[in-house]
Amino acid sequence: MTLETLNKKKPQVSIIIPTYNESQNIVNVLKSIGDIIPKNILTQAIVVDDNSPDGTGKIVEDYLKNVKKIAGYTVDIIHRTTKNGLSSAILSGIQRASGETIVVMDSDLSHPPQIIPKMIEALKQYQCDMVIASRYITGGKINGWNKKRKLISKVATVIAKKGLDIKTNDPMSGFFAFRKGILKGLKFDALGYKILLEILVKKRGISVKEIPYTFQNRTLGSSKLDSSIIVDYVKSVWKLYHSDKPEKSNEKRNSVKFISKAGRFYTIGATGFAINYLISIIFSGGVTEIWYLHANILGIIASMTSNFLLNKWWTFRDRNFSFKKTISQFSKFIIFSSFGALIQLGVVFSLVDNYDWVYTTALAIGVLTGAFSNFVLNKKWTFNEKLWQ
Ligand code: GDD
Ligand code: MN
Repeated sequence: MTLETLNKKKPQVSIIIPTYNESQNIVNVLKSIGDIIPKNILTQAIVVDDNSPDGTGKIVEDYLKNVKKIAGYTVDIIHRTTKNGLSSAILSGIQRASGETIVVMDSDLSHPPQIIPKMIEALKQYQCDMVIASRYITGGKINGWNKKRKLISKVATVIAKKGLDIKTNDPMSGFFAFRKGILKGLKFDALGYKILLEILVKKRGISVKEIPYTFQNRTLGSSKLDSSIIVDYVKSVWKLYHSDKPEKSNEKRNSVKFISKAGRFYTIGATGFAINYLISIIFSGGVTEIWYLHANILGIIASMTSNFLLNKWWTFRDRNFSFKKTISQFSKFIIFSSFGALIQLGVVFSLVDNYDWVYTTALAIGVLTGAFSNFVLNKKWTFNEKLWQ
């Protein structure tokens, strides 16, 4: 096959390489990819440059004009007019990509191109949808980061794993390969740096394999990750958290659903009681000696708040924590809880006074009835659920 016919065929692998001020690195990256790509797989590199002030875009254009073509390897460049963020640059690249396999990598030589053939091989070998080059599995490493940067990365990883229930060990990796088909139907928010995380949350069904690599901190140019990106990160986790579907329950029987929700509601009520009791004790004696009634008020406020939040999140699986909605639900919750307290008083009073029940038994019945009315009212009016489901 001649070079021309080979390069006219559709590439099988597209490598997306976002650049912003990488004039000192980009040519080396493009060259080393050319050195390592398997010759039997048509590969296309797509540089996505955001009009870098240091002339990265122009350097790539010159490279394309002057450099001898490598068989099976083409390089494209997308010029965007402004710096629009890493995720959105990667998306622009993906839109242009013709390959069925997409590889995403940084352009500062932090991601060794030698790993790319291994990723492509692993996609085939394990028949999986995505391969992530990982720093946080056995064999993976980070070279050249200071303690602070390591800590930030670790914390961000823990937040993603615990908060978003992600099983992958390095969901913050910027180095990964996947089959383009998995993006079908996916709507990106493309906020900040975290495109991989977004895919992992929104496409939970895909099969993922991680392979270890050594992340090498850049030696030339400077990192674009600053505090605004950390803020973006927190925002995007928050957003992903809320767009994530609440756990699906397969239970269809309304009676079971009703009883399990009531069970959760009562359990939370019990924790609320414990919180109320502890806080009232701690604040009235011991460290801060404040008036016991004030301490008790603190206890009530704390337990009402925790009861509300836990019920919202756990009992009713409501993930909409927007300020307006939460406050309006909280007010209703307090009103209905006070109403429940009145019912409790009424029941205790009438049982003791009219029917001569022992106080302790009457109290137990009173608490249960009050809590039941709380449950029903909050279910229907605070969390807008049907009564029986
Ligand atoms: N086009 C474009 N537009 N490219 C950008 C932009 C942008 O707004 N911001 C950053 N880039 C490019 C950089 O030129 C670089 O190639 C790559 O994206 C990563 O940016 P760095 O500034 O080098 O990021 P880092 O090394 O601090 O962060 C790396 O590690 C993180 C994990 O801790 C990256 O790999 C991240 O993706 C990764 O999450
Ligand atoms: Mn970097």
